[in-house]
Amino acid sequence: MRTLITGVTGQLGQAIKQVLEEQDFDILDFPRYNVQDHAIVPKISELYPELVVHCAAMTNVDGCAKDPDAAFSINAFGTQNVAHACLRCNAEMVYISTNEVFNGRSDRPYREDDKPNPINPYGSSKRSGEQMAAHYLKNGLYIVRTAWLYGGGHMFPEKILAAADKFGELRVVTDEVGNPTYTLDLALAVAALVRTRTYGIYHFTNAGYCSRYEYAQEVLRLGGRDDVPIRPITLAEYSRPSAVPPFAPLANSAGAALGIELRPWQEALAAYFESKRGDV
Ligand SMILES: NC(=O)c1ccc[n+]([C@@H]2O[C@H](COP(=O)([O-])OP(=O)(O)OC[C@H]3O[C@@H](n4cnc5c(N)ncnc54)[C@H](OP(=O)(O)O)[C@@H]3O)[C@@H](O)[C@H]2O)c1
Repeated sequence: MRTLITGVTGQLGQAIKQVLEEQDFDILDFPRYNVQDHAIVPKISELYPELVVHCAAMTNVDGCAKDPDAAFSINAFGTQNVAHACLRCNAEMVYISTNEVFNGRSDRPYREDDKPNPINPYGSSKRSGEQMAAHYLKNGLYIVRTAWLYGGGHMFPEKILAAADKFGELRVVTDEVGNPTYTLDLALAVAALVRTRTYGIYHFTNAGYCSRYEYAQEVLRLGGRDDVPIRPITLAEYSRPSAVPPFAPLANSAGAALGIELRPWQEALAAYFESKRGDV
């Protein structure tokens, strides 16, 4: 399948490329091109991809809060451009979205048919991207929401270990809850999904959920730093530019109905540490 990946230099884009190449998808050479620029429409469509996996995004949640116009331009209008290109060349599209489309005031993990209600500019811009993609592509669109990615780059596990080494103790919030998700597991789920040709909204994260505090405890344990003390704090004690949805884990119902399920987050995190042994 002729496949184009936007954001291929990002942590998820790298994992998607690796997995799809291993599964004999034909990955088109597409250099980084600004998704905000409408000229990207012919640049994509004239390559005649059959599938576009749209990973490019402004992903810094606090950065989005500081510059909501940029967030909207990249995440919403950029997605509109990519969807427009897919419409022109009749390509299927996978749009990677986020648990932050929800407000985090639920008492259970969010299902695919729960109503989005974002509370920060990152979440609003990604939700608008979902709506714009759906407006263009009445057929052929997979919206894949995920959460708390790690697997390539300086993400939560690396930040926790670096902070443990620098400060010798940590303060981590107990009232922000989500699903830590390994990019390689997500990429495998996306590869399985596109083979089903069953379009719609999917929640793909590693199974189970935890607080940031519990996540940090597991990272320290796997990283051999379980002697480093962690003090539990609340979001109210942790000042940052963006609001965060406090309880926003996702539940995978639609994917499970197709037989696509991701392993528990603790197993995935252990596998990640195993793969990185010696250099995390
Ligand atoms: N990270 C998470 O925890 C998380 C959670 C839920 C959902 N997601 C979603 O998952 C997707 C992938 O995230 P990620 O963690 O892989 O992000 P990432 O590592 O920050 O990668 C983002 C990619 O997008 C590219 N990009 C940014 N602005 C662009 C623009 N204007 N035009 C073209 N390319 C642009 C970046 O290229 P440059 O580096 O060259 O700018 C990079 O290749 C995103 O859609 C994100 O919203 C992420």
